[in-house]
Amino acid sequence: MTEIGFGTWSWGNKFLWGYQAEKDDQLLKKTFKAAIDSGLTLIDTADSYGTGNLTGRSETLLGKYLEELPLSKKRSITIATKLAPYPWRVGRKGFKHPFKLSKKRLKGKIDRVQLHWSTYRYAPWQEAQLIDGLGDLYENGDITEIGVSNMGPRRLRWMHNRLTRRGIPLKSIQIQFSLLSPQNNKKQIQDICKELNIQLLAYSPLALGVLAVKPSDDKVPKAKTLLRKILFNRLLPGSIVLRKELERIARERGVSQAQVALNWCRSHGAHPIPGIRTPLQARDIGSARRWKLSDKEKASLDKLSNEVTQRMPNNPFLSD
Ligand SMILES: NC(=O)c1ccc[n+]([C@@H]2O[C@H](COP(=O)([O-])OP(=O)(O)OC[C@H]3O[C@@H](n4cnc5c(N)ncnc54)[C@H](OP(=O)(O)O)[C@@H]3O)[C@@H](O)[C@H]2O)c1
Repeated sequence: MTEIGFGTWSWGNKFLWGYQAEKDDQLLKKTFKAAIDSGLTLIDTADSYGTGNLTGRSETLLGKYLEELPLSKKRSITIATKLAPYPWRVGRKGFKHPFKLSKKRLKGKIDRVQLHWSTYRYAPWQEAQLIDGLGDLYENGDITEIGVSNMGPRRLRWMHNRLTRRGIPLKSIQIQFSLLSPQNNKKQIQDICKELNIQLLAYSPLALGVLAVKPSDDKVPKAKTLLRKILFNRLLPGSIVLRKELERIARERGVSQAQVALNWCRSHGAHPIPGIRTPLQARDIGSARRWKLSDKEKASLDKLSNEVTQRMPNNPFLSD
């Protein structure tokens, strides 16, 4: 069974989550501690997390919280950041400076660097240079793992081959993967990951929280930002039958709906990295590690998921 990690996109994201620096930081510190105590040891972040003038905030907060952990705990954690292939980051050394900045924000603790998205559709030469640059970081011993993100099956194989030629393993790929994610080439990616022993990370596994909404409270919670309200208004009505089934399974097992949605990802061999914002959510997600879906529950959720027509939007950079 795959493990569960957590993501920190909301830590510094003003637009989607209404994040407020300082005010939210104490809560996030407690959230971080609860997540580590609950056994969530893979932490996903990115140098672009933290919108507007808060750029890098997610890494900065993680760096601060990591410093307070005992060394043995810190060693047991994998920090996986993502570097963004912005158009000005070109050439084999394009990530050299951004990597240094991330490493500084994370107080020296970076285990994995992931290429945040594929530039194949608009600047194919750029991603070849950048992945070669990540290979250099690996060979220099700066990082121990390389990952990619938002890539389709063709680019995934290509990336794997490019690294394999240098004897470098490709550790992971992350794609949007949930009961409500777009129906593109998830299955092909799953098969390649199995064949090539690449870890499949499921991002947005709760569809930004939609899958955790009980079918009986179908009003969009007041606290949501405008962008999330729009998304919730679009996805809640069409997912009611699916969410009724999530609720039924959750009730029968005495767990939360969020746990059922995450264990659906695990039942497909994916390693979910849900975004967490409170200690309660962290502990709840940690509890999902202790059980798994039966084949019957999985089949019923698969069927209902396939029937939903209104789904999450595709990532615009996803390559083929
Ligand atoms: N590679 C990429 O391009 C990419 C793109 C997107 C995300 N990601 C990664 O994936 C991570 C997760 O995705 P995401 O943050 O977009 O969305 P998500 O995990 O699908 O949803 C996160 C939201 O779910 C709710 N939630 C979390 N735990 C819960 C629980 N136990 N019970 C009820 N609700 C719960 C919270 O909502 P409230 O805020 O309402 O409490 C939280 O903000 C990100 O943080 C990021 O690290 C990567």
